[in-house]
Amino acid sequence: MSDVPEPTRRPEWAALENHRTDALPQPDLRELFAADPSRAQRYVVHVGDLRIDYSKHLVTDDTLALLTELATATDVFALRDAMFRGERINTTEDRAVLHTALRAPRDAVIEVDGENVVPAVHAVLDRMADFAGRVRSGEWTGHTGKRIRNVVNIGIGGSDLGPAMAYEVLRAYTARDLTFRFVSNVDGADLHEAVRDLDPAETLFIVASKTFTTIETITNATSARTWLLSGLGGDEKAVARHFVALSTNAGKVSDFGIDTANMFEFWDWVGGRYSYDSAIGLSLMIAIGPDRFREMLDGFRVVDEHFRTAPAESNVPLLLGLLGVWYNNFFDAQSHAVLPYSHYLSKFTAYLQQLDMESNGKSVDRQGRPVTWQTGPVVWGTPGTNGQHAYYQLIHQGTKLIPADLIGFARPVAELSDELKAQHDLLMANLFAQGQALAFGKTAEEVRAEGVPEEQVPHRTFRGNHPTTTILATELTPSVLGQLIALYEHKVFVQGAIWNIDSFDQWGVELGKVLAKRVEPALTEGADVPGLDPSTAALVAAYRERRK
Ligand code: F6P
Repeated sequence: MSDVPEPTRRPEWAALENHRTDALPQPDLRELFAADPSRAQRYVVHVGDLRIDYSKHLVTDDTLALLTELATATDVFALRDAMFRGERINTTEDRAVLHTALRAPRDAVIEVDGENVVPAVHAVLDRMADFAGRVRSGEWTGHTGKRIRNVVNIGIGGSDLGPAMAYEVLRAYTARDLTFRFVSNVDGADLHEAVRDLDPAETLFIVASKTFTTIETITNATSARTWLLSGLGGDEKAVARHFVALSTNAGKVSDFGIDTANMFEFWDWVGGRYSYDSAIGLSLMIAIGPDRFREMLDGFRVVDEHFRTAPAESNVPLLLGLLGVWYNNFFDAQSHAVLPYSHYLSKFTAYLQQLDMESNGKSVDRQGRPVTWQTGPVVWGTPGTNGQHAYYQLIHQGTKLIPADLIGFARPVAELSDELKAQHDLLMANLFAQGQALAFGKTAEEVRAEGVPEEQVPHRTFRGNHPTTTILATELTPSVLGQLIALYEHKVFVQGAIWNIDSFDQWGVELGKVLAKRVEPALTEGADVPGLDPSTAALVAAYRERRK
């Protein structure tokens, strides 16, 4: 394995560097469009319900061909096929990477160590559907016989961001007579605010944790249990009606006091940040119902199949991954903005931050060698149009190159009033206007022609050439959400493969966890903690002094 060449040593990498300096030293989108009148039509690809326009990128046909050659040389397609086959491509944890099996059809056969995992996936989905149906109908009651009105998911990272994001995205499809809350932060304020106005007799807690050892989740779940029992007179039997667990770890679930009959399982071949279409999605399934949940899985599957089988030139996750590599490694772009023009996608970028940054925030390659090339970008963004009045100034006129995804929908959600639906055109006009302004800017001549005084011309000039991908879907449906998430999952995969890093481990989270455990006794018990550095020791002393 150690003879795997570093990506930067491959001739395909050098070819891209030469292409960047020789053919596109100062790429100009006005010129690229003038040179190719069909660019707006040719640089469009489709997958499922998504229309992806990449014409406003700083690329030519040659760039795309060279990037594809890099993907071939770095074995992206071989690694993709190994992932879909269930091979242990997460080498540092010796695990298969099979989130795609979570959305496989019932009759599919996907083996891990010789065992077909698909029947187990569907068995859990069926149990989830049964349980979700009983909660939604009121058949599943709390300890006192009252029906469940509130569902509180307790989890963090992949056990929170996915269901919390998808619940917001699909709010229009949710059971409006139920309240859903998502608690993640070990700051007690999170749980306090989530339950302060709820009746324990009507509240179901879903404790979501792949490992069931995560300190934030176990701490919050313990406090939730105390809150429940004190509200219901202390009868321990209440726990069974008000707590269910989502986990791979039956032993720890039972140690915590949750009956494993109330546990929905998933498997170690599902990474936390790839897990909300597993049992981790139970709160979402209760919210939108099992049928809509399955529609979402179908959406994931459309993009999985496309990624697995589409030729390179029309393979959307491949293309988006390659465009990201182009800016990250050949333009020194440090970040990538995801800018959805939908209020419902308010948590979408936060979700993608974990997906992308926990996956590709690595600085050693798969063989353990330090990388000498840039890996994952900083992913950020919030919904338009809000960001336009905050940080878009920096994108337009700052000094950084920030590639961005603009995501929009042709139709507003059905339940809006006619008056609010009419606002949708204004929303989308802003998306299109931003794409145009970012790409083509405004030249000094154009500014002067408007009669702007000469001393103001530089301030009002927009250099343009800020690359964007525009993703347009007809409507925000469960299937479209599944398609979007799978698209980004596979994009992240492509980039990790090219950078030769393990996109499926997250050792970088560990050190902070271990140190927090070590520091805690110093704060709570005033105990001496050996080995604290002088700065942290002084901070701890100052904290202790002030908390008296
Ligand atoms: O942040 C690290 C991490 O391991 C994530 O990958 C994961 O999604 C999160 O913690 C929560 O872990 P668990 O589901 O085991 O509680």
